Amino acid sequence: MHLDIRPCSTLQGEVKVPGDKSISHRALIFGAIAHGVTRIDNINPGEDVGSTATCLKKLGVDIRFDGRTMFVSGKDFFDLQAPTEMLDAKNSGTTMRLLTGLLAAQDFSSTITGDDSLRCRPMRRIIDPLQKMGAQIESTDGYPPLHIHGRELQGIEYEMPISSAQVKSCLLLAGLGAWGTTTIIEKEQSRDHTERMLRAMGAPIWREENKILIRPGKLHDLDIKVPGDISAAAFFIAAALLVPDSGIFLPHVGINPTRTGFLDVVREMGAHLKITGEKDICGEPVANIRTQSCELQATEIFGPRIPLLIDEIPILAVLATQARGKTIIRDAAELRLKESDRLKLIANNLQKMGAQVEEFADGLSIIGPTKLCGMEIDTAGDHRLAMAFTIAGLVATGATRILQPQSVTISDPNFYDALSQLGVNGIS
Ligand code: S3P
Repeated sequence: MHLDIRPCSTLQGEVKVPGDKSISHRALIFGAIAHGVTRIDNINPGEDVGSTATCLKKLGVDIRFDGRTMFVSGKDFFDLQAPTEMLDAKNSGTTMRLLTGLLAAQDFSSTITGDDSLRCRPMRRIIDPLQKMGAQIESTDGYPPLHIHGRELQGIEYEMPISSAQVKSCLLLAGLGAWGTTTIIEKEQSRDHTERMLRAMGAPIWREENKILIRPGKLHDLDIKVPGDISAAAFFIAAALLVPDSGIFLPHVGINPTRTGFLDVVREMGAHLKITGEKDICGEPVANIRTQSCELQATEIFGPRIPLLIDEIPILAVLATQARGKTIIRDAAELRLKESDRLKLIANNLQKMGAQVEEFADGLSIIGPTKLCGMEIDTAGDHRLAMAFTIAGLVATGATRILQPQSVTISDPNFYDALSQLGVNGIS
């Protein structure tokens, strides 16, 4: 399957982005082990979050959806049921890594697998620290499927060698069911939705400088209103910045500071963002964002900023092709371990479109502005690449052919409809 994207002259209007994917996974998983019924409004409708819900149902958790609100009837941490079949996280790294933390402490065995992409993603990053806690996990040289033989776990102090919210959340979940205190040392701040939500649900979790500590404890239910996904919003913001005479409004978007690296970088590149109506919902800051087209300048992105915008690098690279000067992105080798090797595919596809891009082991440099030419884009079934190159296609000459565009359903099934509503014509 493919879609052809043609240049667009203006984008105007309002986009309601889907609920935040990271927060939605956590709402389901923590709701599943909380006392009472957790209500989740505006849950992300994508396939990744669906995979988490399906896995939890196989663990005996009752999850109902009335078309608007998800109701999760929680069980005690140790009352989950042994699954009668293999759990399938499909394309979702968050599902696999977070659930493995929960499953490692249970008194039953389980197996979790994934699709071709997920089975190529490294799991040693969770297996090693979980084994230090006493877990027994078999894998194929550190890759899924994971056979998890539940054990009593012991809290440890663990310094994470990489910045990863999935690893941190996996270990915090395991720590909730382990003896004693589990301490995670994070050298660089990664998204902190787990810490915020666990705290709001009454878990004994606290922070001491760069350490996060958790003890076993009971969670209580929560009414969760999931903010709009800033990672989904980034594509529309980028589209409005690039397409001339554009102006868009995005209501109710999550602006947690551990996720807003993209907003800071586009501001530095010259974007005018109007942030209004800021409020706190269930411990997460939310606001409306308004933006419009403008001239962009190159910038440099590296170091502790990378985890704050890790999923936005594909679209930042597209923006960089239209910015004046040389944009440099470093310290981003983790991008090679996502749903695809994003550094390689960003570089190859942008070069094909005529951009001046150099690929490094841990990043990219991009000299702009260059006029992009519509080409056939290999997205390797990676949702963020399909969306980033769709936006590139709006400012390229001719038709940009996006291969496997259906991957957008992983995180934003409404992506192409939302673009049409903003005035993008001729997607075919
Ligand atoms: C996520 C954390 C990040 C991010 C992913 C979602 C999460 O992954 O790239 O899309 O929900 O915790 P890492 O933990 O591998 O950095």
